[in-house]
Amino acid sequence: MQARPAPGPILFLDSGIGGLSVLAAVRRALPHAPLVYCADSAGFPYGTRTEAEIATRVPALLGRLVERVHPSIIVIACNTASTIALPHVRAALDLPVVGTVPAIKPAAERSKTRVIGVLGTRATVRQPYVDDLSARFAADCTVLRHGSAELVEAAEAKLRGKTPDPAIFRAAIEGLAHQPGGDRIDVIVLACTHFPLVAEELAEAARALLPGRPVSFVDGAEGIARRTAHLLSGLHWPAPAPPGRAIFTGGTESVAPYRPALKAFGIETVESL
Ligand code: DGL
Repeated sequence: MQARPAPGPILFLDSGIGGLSVLAAVRRALPHAPLVYCADSAGFPYGTRTEAEIATRVPALLGRLVERVHPSIIVIACNTASTIALPHVRAALDLPVVGTVPAIKPAAERSKTRVIGVLGTRATVRQPYVDDLSARFAADCTVLRHGSAELVEAAEAKLRGKTPDPAIFRAAIEGLAHQPGGDRIDVIVLACTHFPLVAEELAEAARALLPGRPVSFVDGAEGIARRTAHLLSGLHWPAPAPPGRAIFTGGTESVAPYRPALKAFGIETVESL
């Protein structure tokens, strides 16, 4: 009897290294699954691009990646790409696709003051998708939003081994706290996959700027891991999982400073597309 070929890997896509925060949660849920992580470094950052650019770029790139890695499932580990391009990707590809959207529902479940902050990229926080999530799951809450491109850069710098300027984290929290009602925020949604990578720095800034008000942070990674594991529940990969693979669309020359961080997330090989 012929052995059945092992199912394909899980393919992750983000503009940069932010989606590693999602990959880590998926690996905890599916420790034997082979993982391929694509950083669209040639398109980075997504958060300052137009909707039309993202809606065209993301499905086209995923089409090329599918041909290359033959995944079992795609995880768009990026809020910006998901809130804009998810329907386009699903229409273009005949594969299960899990998106990353702002965790407004769990934030509303947790908030006591009924004031929630949403910290994302500039593109994400202006999306109708966020209006819709707020209306469906947080109708009795004030949902304050702030978009930051600097915070994305800070997370990238941290994973290159640099220490970002603490003023960046303070400015991001101030962007929420200084809005009307912002002094009552008790839950902040990290609506960009880069931001959990700087959660400690953000928590420190929140303690300084909102003294006496404990603020908690939520992101979508655990929910995405549960959803991915559910969709793949019939598949079995042989143990142990192979080391993770990364694909950078902007070439591999500039990847060297990220290597230790990639290794810490179980990624050993880096290729270019
Ligand atoms: N990590 C991304 C997100 O979740 C995008 C960051 C960027 O490229 O601006 O939105």
